[in-house]
Amino acid sequence: LNLVSRIIDRHFRSIAGELHVGELPVTALATEYGTPLFVYDRAVVDYKLEVLRGALPPEFTVSYSVKANPNGRILRHFVARGCGLEVASAGEFCRALSTGCSPEKILFAGPGKTEAELEYVLFRDIGEIHIESLVEAKRIAEICRRLHRRASVAIRVNPGGEVQGGAMRMGGKSAPFGFDEEVLDVVLDSLMSEGELELCGIHLFTGTQILDHNLLICQYLKGLEIARWFAARLNRPIKTVDLGGGLGIPYFDNDRELDSGSLRASLAAIMVEVRKESCFSGTQFIIEPGRFLVGEAGIYIARVNDIKVSRGKKFVILDGGMNHHLAASGNLGQVIKRNFPVTVVNKLDHRQTEVVDLVGPLCTPLDTLARNVKIPAVSIGDLIGVFQSGAYGRTSSPSGFLSHPVPGEVWIDNGKATLVQARGRYTDFSGGE
Ligand SMILES: Cc1ncc(COP(=O)(O)O)c(C=O)c1O
Repeated sequence: LNLVSRIIDRHFRSIAGELHVGELPVTALATEYGTPLFVYDRAVVDYKLEVLRGALPPEFTVSYSVKANPNGRILRHFVARGCGLEVASAGEFCRALSTGCSPEKILFAGPGKTEAELEYVLFRDIGEIHIESLVEAKRIAEICRRLHRRASVAIRVNPGGEVQGGAMRMGGKSAPFGFDEEVLDVVLDSLMSEGELELCGIHLFTGTQILDHNLLICQYLKGLEIARWFAARLNRPIKTVDLGGGLGIPYFDNDRELDSGSLRASLAAIMVEVRKESCFSGTQFIIEPGRFLVGEAGIYIARVNDIKVSRGKKFVILDGGMNHHLAASGNLGQVIKRNFPVTVVNKLDHRQTEVVDLVGPLCTPLDTLARNVKIPAVSIGDLIGVFQSGAYGRTSSPSGFLSHPVPGEVWIDNGKATLVQARGRYTDFSGGE
């Protein structure tokens, strides 16, 4: 089975050749909410959260990484399921608060936090800030003095070369994220001199889209080693160990799924030892994934608006493209463009007889959602579905480019669809100066 069929078999349904998401036919969704459209299936989000939680020992909590998909309905769902949220800006912090997340369950990581952002989140009692530089540490301490409060902080570490492995090179290289492992000793001296900083823990996040559980385990072991050093230097147990996100999902036919069973077995074995160590007494371990939790739950649906042939090549022109889904166009996180899983979602029972390029409406050859893809013969009005589109979709895309309105977003829960982001309109761009 190719990846599209595997995804449909696992999460969705094909009835009379038509894709059904949470029991709802995709043509009805497209008619009711218009295209282009992102649809998210609650059942898939829950399934992925269950798989992840099933792999994690009881000392672990999940903090959903808001940047993967910041839609308020999705955030609210994770908060209701007992997750924390990981944010990377004051804007994401506001989104998190507005979904009812209590501030102590929010972590703030990411380089370049401004003074205004730090003051905003500190004033509102954020749970933990992950320090990325000494400048940032001094800013936080200064704001705390002004506000007469202390800040719970973790040190983000850019680990040394031995965490490298597999296809993805991780850590050990120059990066604007966190402190190089080699200088941690000096950094900690400096942080300990700031009385306003409560040094809670360490944080590692060194790569995204990891499908090899061995690589994740290798990273986790490195995190534990750094955590031991941290606890020894502070002469007390470490409160929090954030081992990052980065768990991948399959995008291409040859991608193997992350082996959650092996991840569970390895983590369980590691924790047998960890539980014996006094430095980990009462420690809260955190995983902060985005893509793994929401990627598979989302489908981008665009309608065929034109079909043409140029010098023997067929182009199927859709009503949306890289302006809504940069990742599928290969311009986000890919060096050589490969096709996301795509098909004609109202013709699932048709034979795949054509090789075409699926392109968006932008005036650039970069706006190609799929190149030389084999699909059933298409007609104008057919619906193209791009699967694995729940993470790094709408808000990771240059939606202002060419001033096409932003697509709507629909949340599907047990056969009930709710519009959770209205489509934009042409008139959004009129008026003003
Ligand atoms: C600090 C941090 N945490 C978590 C994530 C989420 O990564 P993923 O979606 O790969 O799990 C990111 C992604 O860039 C990140 O920078």
